[in-house]
Amino acid sequence: MFKIFSYCGSAQYPSISNNISREFLLRLTNTMEKEFSIKHYKCDQVKIDLVNNVNQFIKPQEAMNTPDDMPMIANQMLNSNMIVFSTPVYFKNVSAGMKVLLDRITGWTHSFELVGKFGVCIVCGSQNGSKETLKYMEDFMIRLGLGSIQFIEYNTNNNSVSELNQKINISVNTLVDRINNSRPPLPTDRQIEIYENYKKLFLTEGINDAEHKIWIEKQKNNENLNLKDIMGKNSVSY
Ligand SMILES: Cc1cc2nc3c(=O)[nH]c(=O)nc-3n(C[C@H](O)[C@H](O)[C@H](O)COP(=O)(O)O)c2cc1C
Repeated sequence: MFKIFSYCGSAQYPSISNNISREFLLRLTNTMEKEFSIKHYKCDQVKIDLVNNVNQFIKPQEAMNTPDDMPMIANQMLNSNMIVFSTPVYFKNVSAGMKVLLDRITGWTHSFELVGKFGVCIVCGSQNGSKETLKYMEDFMIRLGLGSIQFIEYNTNNNSVSELNQKINISVNTLVDRINNSRPPLPTDRQIEIYENYKKLFLTEGINDAEHKIWIEKQKNNENLNLKDIMGKNSVSY
């Protein structure tokens, strides 16, 4: 079963970014030759509390141990094969509805926690600032460990619907080719470089203790700490 987790940072009805993610998911799953399941949420449909303790950053398990919907969301993300983020552009950045989730999983960007999963990013604006937003999301998603990341950028004033359709189709075709052949997501050279730097940093004595412990523990458990090897596998079989 190919499991997809999808989250949209718009609380509007109707929402263009949400509609694009639904259209993307429809085309993807219509083209895929695998059984699938989708968990799709708009930010206003779930309760995600604000970060209120720095430990929620440096001890990621604490970020997930809260009385809101975050334990359920984290679990679904960790057990999925693909993560789809969609967000409107709000002053050259993501919406607060998207940011509240990103804040809660920031700790995962230090451990490449979502390695072995495909990533999709949909950004929708009406004027300018999409590029900055995309760049921000790309950096975040690279550090989550997501691979073969697809970007769908749509500007309601500058892009035609047929341009949008083309972008969706290119992303769908790229992903379906890998999924149908059970090929894992691909890392980029930049991603490997970032991972190697983190590994060196967090395995150094005297660095932030909580994070040092996480990496030492990985080493002790003989976990493979070579990103190319780790990314060469699908994190959850399907
Ligand atoms: C608070 C706010 C800030 C916005 N800032 C920008 C912006 O900086 N750049 C831009 O291109 N569009 C901006 N927009 C327009 C939205 O990105 C655009 O309407 C988008 O389609 C909304 O997506 P949605 O329909 O999924 O909610 C802004 C809209 C709002 C409500």
